[in-house]
Amino acid sequence: MRKRFLILFVLFFTIGCSSVPSTGAANPPAENLRQNSNTEDNLMPNQGKEAEDAIAYHDTSSVRVLVNKQNELPSSYVPPDLAEVNIPFTFSEKAEKRMLRQEAALKLAELFEAAKKESIILYGVSGYRSYKTQKDLFAIFTSRYGSEEKANQISARPGQSEHQTGLAMDVTCRSVNFGLEESFGDTKEYAWLKENAHRYGFIIRYPKGKELITEYTYEPWHLRYVGPELATKLYEKKVTYEEYLFFKV
Ligand code: DAL
Ligand code: ZN
Repeated sequence: MRKRFLILFVLFFTIGCSSVPSTGAANPPAENLRQNSNTEDNLMPNQGKEAEDAIAYHDTSSVRVLVNKQNELPSSYVPPDLAEVNIPFTFSEKAEKRMLRQEAALKLAELFEAAKKESIILYGVSGYRSYKTQKDLFAIFTSRYGSEEKANQISARPGQSEHQTGLAMDVTCRSVNFGLEESFGDTKEYAWLKENAHRYGFIIRYPKGKELITEYTYEPWHLRYVGPELATKLYEKKVTYEEYLFFKV
């Protein structure tokens, strides 16, 4: 009798325990997580994609990194693979602003070549900027506009500029005297960029009408590399990166 009870006791705990999720099941290994998200993908097509997007925008090594007034780069951050961009610039000196991260540099040169074939002649003005350069620039804008708040409508605080990512380039053309001004948005060069930049992985980062979302004034000249897949999505949905990530559009 006592022996039978012992067997039942052992059986109960063996079967009972195996049917209750263990601590391991609550924290499954990475392989399990991937399987789970695949299963969920079938039921909710966006779920896996959203997780991927969320990981990428926090990742400074990703070309999808989100940098804005809420998401800033460490002061020590320097892109690991800066390379000079092979495009015409509005200046002749050697400078950090000629550089972008390798992938963005190659795609921007491709974009400039494609534009040229359609008689659209673009020039680079400013690419990579270090934390220190952005700090100095923001100080100049602050003294010019009288307050940090006013300066911050057009210039990013150090750590909050996409130029520090090595993924942003300001561009211009001859008809606006090679300047960075709103009238660039009325040129045929801008019209071409608006319709074609995404093919090369670039977005117009601060568009007209989206100032409340981007928290910067309209900058038709500021191109940001996010890769062709994401750039095409944003182009097709006509949304900013913030809207895509947070408003689930
Ligand atoms: N003008 C943009 C917002 C920058 O300073 O990065
Ligand atoms: Zn810019």
